[in-house]
Amino acid sequence: MSKTVLVTGASSGIGYQICKDLLTKGERVIGLSRTIDKSHPLNEFERFIPWQCDLSDITQAGDLFQTLIDNIGPIDALIYAAGVCYHEPFGQTKMNSITEQLNVNLVSAFLLCEQAVEHMAKQSAIILLSSTLAEKPIATSAIYSASKAGLEQVMKASALAGAAKQISVNAVALGCVDTPMLSQHRDDNLEQQTRLKALADLHPLGLGKAQEVAQIITTLLFQPWTTGSVIKVDGGLSLN
Ligand SMILES: NC(=O)c1ccc[n+]([C@@H]2O[C@H](COP(=O)([O-])OP(=O)(O)OC[C@H]3O[C@@H](n4cnc5c(N)ncnc54)[C@H](OP(=O)(O)O)[C@@H]3O)[C@@H](O)[C@H]2O)c1
Repeated sequence: MSKTVLVTGASSGIGYQICKDLLTKGERVIGLSRTIDKSHPLNEFERFIPWQCDLSDITQAGDLFQTLIDNIGPIDALIYAAGVCYHEPFGQTKMNSITEQLNVNLVSAFLLCEQAVEHMAKQSAIILLSSTLAEKPIATSAIYSASKAGLEQVMKASALAGAAKQISVNAVALGCVDTPMLSQHRDDNLEQQTRLKALADLHPLGLGKAQEVAQIITTLLFQPWTTGSVIKVDGGLSLN
């Protein structure tokens, strides 16, 4: 029987590819982001349901699961792919970017995990998208790294809490994947192509592709006896 999967960050990058992958397999997908609506290309799939929500506003995340269940029905899995990343020189971090990164990457993810463990049925699944920067920050990533390190602890606590219902909870820690997140403006004065090449060179296997990463993530969903793990998918970045 097909599953209903809530995917945050559905409008772009890895979240978008995850939705495509699941929909192609015949699953029903609730795709959440701030901007997603009936005009988004994922609506070509009959079993796609767009849902707008701003996860930087933690009051919107507070009772989201119940609202979705009331409107759509039971949810079998959560993939939290929403994320924001601002690289700012150390000492020049803006208050807005601190709050947004913590709320989107950590607090709303925690609130959704709590609700998912409470409301989802036995043997449901949660996957949270983390980053190699959680374990190994760079000078410009303090808050992003802190948010993803926190997310990995949320994952572990949720895995313990979900175990009674055999709900598996895991995180995937990604190296650099070629998505709009990598292309956004950074204060490093490098041309786009120069920066992408420099990032690619850090990875023995080069930059990741969203399609490949999405396929790995959807394969990890509903694996029995895997919970509480941070699974690295990084093109060998951590070998360096
Ligand atoms: N790309 C990489 O190199 C890389 C590396 C390590 C980890 N990751 C992680 O992988 C995940 C996916 O990243 P990506 O590369 O696919 O990024 P992306 O292309 O920039 O997509 C980010 C997604 O998050 C959504 N989002 C951002 N702010 C939101 C908010 N306030 N409320 C709701 N949704 C929001 C965006 O949708 P809207 O703009 O429509 O709201 C978009 O769908 C993130 O958690 C990221 O931290 C990425």
